[in-house]
Amino acid sequence: MTRRRRVYEGKAKVLFEGPEPGTLVQYFKDDATAFNGEKKSTVTGKGVLNNRISEHLMSRLGEIGIQNHFIRRLNMREQLIKEVEIIPVEVIIRNIAAGSICSRLGITEGTALPRAIIEYCFKSDDLNDPLVSEEHITAFGWATPQELDEIMNLSLRVNDFLSGLFTGIGIRLVDFKLEFGRYYDGDEVQIILADEISPDNCRLWDMATNEKLDKDRFRRDLGGVEDAYQEVARRLGILPEGGPGDLKGPSSIQ
Ligand SMILES: Nc1ncnc2c1ncn2[C@@H]1O[C@H](COP(=O)(O)OP(=O)(O)OP(=O)(O)O)[C@@H](O)[C@H]1O
Ligand SMILES: [Mg+2]
Repeated sequence: MTRRRRVYEGKAKVLFEGPEPGTLVQYFKDDATAFNGEKKSTVTGKGVLNNRISEHLMSRLGEIGIQNHFIRRLNMREQLIKEVEIIPVEVIIRNIAAGSICSRLGITEGTALPRAIIEYCFKSDDLNDPLVSEEHITAFGWATPQELDEIMNLSLRVNDFLSGLFTGIGIRLVDFKLEFGRYYDGDEVQIILADEISPDNCRLWDMATNEKLDKDRFRRDLGGVEDAYQEVARRLGILPEGGPGDLKGPSSIQ
């Protein structure tokens, strides 16, 4: 394996310098964290599955014209991506009430929302990713009003497309989190979708049984985390023959 410079290590992924300027290699770890890193464990095979699931969903979104950072998968745990300047805002799109919106607004989990609701959180582990409004985002210059408009439009298109895609395989897309970034291409700057789309940042419920097929299995100690992620991959038609397999960890120089 070639030795590459490690650019960033987060809770779920490692970013390495890519082979060409403006590219990065995104390595998916098996580490699982919840409640801002308070709860930690590893889920064997999770990284392999998330790499594959995110590849699939980003590729399908690319096909319908939603620009994103995915270039190609390199191996079981790594994908080549376009480097972006991440906008420090997590965009949460909710179709059905679950998680923090329930406790915050006193809504019963599972209640269908009147329409898709977008929420924003400021990306800051120190502050526990606080909920913010569009006013904060534009006033503090995290994104311009035009960028935020684009982010909102893209998020709703992603929601429409992914809701349909998951419905087709018997899964309800309850909610999910997206990250966007500025991609500099010559003189042009474009807002594109970045990070990952996987059961780590989507709530996915089986339509027939309401069984959770996402990270809530880890958050709530329900067990069967890897099986659930595997079931999502299987229904998407991307589970490799003989299971997800594995690879050795990354080699890097600091
Ligand atoms: N195309 C991209 N270019 C640059 N950075 C990216 C890109 N896609 C995702 N990232 C960033 O890479 C990191 C991925 O690592 P990981 O998801 O493990 O982070 P994390 O622990 O969730 O921390 P945080 O998201 O708070 O930085 C995130 O910081 C994410 O914002
Ligand atoms: Mg992350």
